[in-house]
Order: sequence, then structure tokens, then C-alpha cells
Amino acid sequence: MTKPKVFVTRVIPDEGLAMIRSACDMKLWEQELPPPRETLVAEVRQAEGLLSLLTDRIDAELMDSNPRLRVVSNYAVGFDNVDVRAATERGLPIGNTPGVLTDTTADLAFTLLMAAARRIVEGVDYVRAGKWKTWGPKLLTGVDIHHATLGIIGMGRIGQGMARRATGFDMGVIYYDVQRRPDLEATMAIEYAELETLYARSDFITVHTDLNESTRHMLDARAFAAMKPTAVVINTARGPIIDPAALHDALARGTIRAAALDVTEPEPLPPDSPLLRLPNCIVVPHIASASVATRARMAEMAAANLIAGLRGERLPTCVNPEVYERGLRA
Ligand code: DGY
Repeated sequence: MTKPKVFVTRVIPDEGLAMIRSACDMKLWEQELPPPRETLVAEVRQAEGLLSLLTDRIDAELMDSNPRLRVVSNYAVGFDNVDVRAATERGLPIGNTPGVLTDTTADLAFTLLMAAARRIVEGVDYVRAGKWKTWGPKLLTGVDIHHATLGIIGMGRIGQGMARRATGFDMGVIYYDVQRRPDLEATMAIEYAELETLYARSDFITVHTDLNESTRHMLDARAFAAMKPTAVVINTARGPIIDPAALHDALARGTIRAAALDVTEPEPLPPDSPLLRLPNCIVVPHIASASVATRARMAEMAAANLIAGLRGERLPTCVNPEVYERGLRA
């Protein structure tokens, strides 16, 4: 029996590749950088299934380049790189990898929070530069994490993970979400706040909302102006939720104290970005879900979605389940 042809846009962990190899005729893009657009389109023309990364733009043009393309499995929980509406209109199911990366991402967000609060990167740089001469009463003094107020924007799975971690540090937790969560308020020590209140009360503000037209540049000059001058902002969600020019301005002028970013706009951040010259801004390269175990589980989930789609079965984790009511592509 001939196996369905699939294109996998990067080398994902073996756990997923092995599943795909046994069920499909796989073409794998093995380079470090994403396939150029022309290559992606050319490969999709030959494929019935696509395993994409968040660095691949999956739009209507790509979907229309091959009407035999039956499934797109995105190796990420986020799917702002995919035009989901266009996919649904075309009867194309889109898979993602929710759940498995929640704790790993919250771990990294909390790591960034602590690193920014206690000036860890500055400390490492100081020692490496040979500047450490003695113990100093004012040397690299930061801010306390314990008993501070954490403001969480977006109370989904990862936001809840942050609230759980904050409890262990005796922090107070307030949150904003477009959907208020009385169920969580009843079971966790969290309090709902409107955005302006969250900005005004929080010592740490951590972003866990998805990127859409209403959250793009949500943290802009006005938002930073509403924060405490001692506020620390953490973003492990999507870069464009923060206006980078406004953030630079706020950090450089001391409107807020510090920022720690796993995601940026643009991505990657160019080496000459002014944000990288600020000592109070930590930037890491979109690694929040990057533990060996989590990336392997994401690979298994993405492979399972791809294979299910090729078999005409419901994807185990589908971002557009309404596609099944509308009817799948033939
Ligand atoms: C995601 O899954 O959306 C992350 O940004 C990468 O793991």
C-alpha cells in the first residue's frame, strides 16, 4: 500500500519522526532555518499532509496551492502563524500541541521573573568581566519576589501555572482575562482585576494571552505609563503583544524597572536591536517549551495529529473542530 506523502518543515524530536516515518512517505527539511516560501509552496504541492512550525506562514495561498492537502499539524500550542479561518473554509483541519508544554513554559516564565528581579544576567556578566572585587552593600540589589503582587494577563493553562508557582513564593495574584474565571477564583487564591488596575497594582506582570488583533501591541506606551516604576514585565506568549519601541522607551526612561522576554517582535531580534543594549532587559530565544521531555511530547502529539488527519480521523487536538461540521476536503 502506498503511504501518503507528507512534508515536515524541520527536524523535530525522534519520537515524532519515527511515528511519521512508519505511517507516511516523509520528506524532511533538515536545515536549521525554515524552508523559504517558494520551497514550502513547492513541497506542499506534492504533499497530502504538512507538519509545520510557528516559523512557517500557513495562509490561504499555501492551502490553495494543493487541494489534496488534507491536514496541517502545527508543532506548537500557538497557531497565530496559521490562517485558521481560511483553513476552516477549505475543510482543512489544523492540529496543535496544547497541554504538554504548560508547566515547562510556566517554569521558564517564572525563571525569567526571578532572573529579572534579582539581576542574575547582570551578575553573571559582572563576574565574567572580572569586576567582582568585594562584597558590596549596594552591589546588584534587586527587588523581592516573595510577598510581591503578580499580575497575570491571560488566565489560560499557562497563566494558571504561573499562579500556582506564585503561591509558593507567598505572592498575591491578580489576573485579567477577556473571560472572567469565577471557577478559578473559587479554587485558587487569585483576584480578577481590570487591566488598568492590574497595571497599577502589580509588581510583576506576566503575559499569557494569545496573539490576535485585539492583543497586538496591547502593552504600549499607555500601558507602561500605567505601571509602577518598579514593575517587571515578562513575556513568554508572543512578541507582538508588546510594542517594542514603547518597551524600549519605558525601560530606558525608568517608566518600569525591567523586562524579561522569551518572545520578541521581530523574531529573531536583530543583534543591533536597542533592547539588547539595555542592562534591565533580558532576552532569550523563544525557548519556553524547550525541555527535552516536553519537545518530545510535542513531537508525538504533532505526529498523532498529522497521521489522524491523513486517515480522515478527527485530530486528537484540533484548533478548528468546526471543520468537521462544515465537511472536510475531499
Ligand atoms: C508554542 O508552542 O506556541 C510555543 O511558542 C513554542 O513551544
